[in-house]
Amino acid sequence: MRRLIVGNWKMHGTGAALGEIVAVAKYVAEEAPPCDVFVCPPFTLIARATRATGGSITIGGQDCHREPSGAFTGDVSAEMLADAGARAVIVGHSERRSLHGETDLDAAMKTSAAWRAGLFAILCIGETQAERDAGQAVDIVAGQLDASLPLGANPNTTAIAYEPVWAIGTGRTPKAEEITAIHALIRERLTERLGEGGSQLRILYGGSVKPANAGSILNLPNVNGALVGGASLKAEEFVSIIRAALPSN
Ligand code: PGA
Repeated sequence: MRRLIVGNWKMHGTGAALGEIVAVAKYVAEEAPPCDVFVCPPFTLIARATRATGGSITIGGQDCHREPSGAFTGDVSAEMLADAGARAVIVGHSERRSLHGETDLDAAMKTSAAWRAGLFAILCIGETQAERDAGQAVDIVAGQLDASLPLGANPNTTAIAYEPVWAIGTGRTPKAEEITAIHALIRERLTERLGEGGSQLRILYGGSVKPANAGSILNLPNVNGALVGGASLKAEEFVSIIRAALPSN
């Protein structure tokens, strides 16, 4: 399966940081690594990043509204992202869930909105530390997946990102067997729901992915890519992670 490496810039970066995205695009254009590379900068950089990279990598948003337009001050629709040049969007990120009160239903509606606008959706799910400590990780992830993924998902329009909340931005990553167990669970449910499509839909791991751990994480079964926050901000680090995703590694 062709791996997918996604950089999530979160609320980082002004025009001065565009050079980092350009450097990633240059690497991809020159080396043509056999994996898909997306960078999701803040809204304000999407059009500029699209122009500056000329299609060698996919530029995506980090969130979208469920409606195409309307009286929603401060929100941006999936159609607007597409109009700015985005071809993908992250939905249901744990920072949206915890800081903006977004629910599984919101994530499902945003995923549908992404598809409606022709965007590839990267749907995030993952348990908190308290949920893991209480032995609920499997139930939480299964419940989020069932309730956040609308009918009609397929591998060409969607990837799932498993991001344990306690691993995001903390430098802590789960043990290999913990990642393997959750990814196997997600694969099983995707296959149950989608049949053949479910076996092809990519499942990304996210949470403190760095050049030093990317190779071992990406080689775990059913880990088909990574969603990278902090380490995607510098081209050099992000390119090291892309290199770790190449099939020979
Ligand atoms: P991190 O963030 O790589 O900085 O832990 C990952 C994410 O939130 O998508």
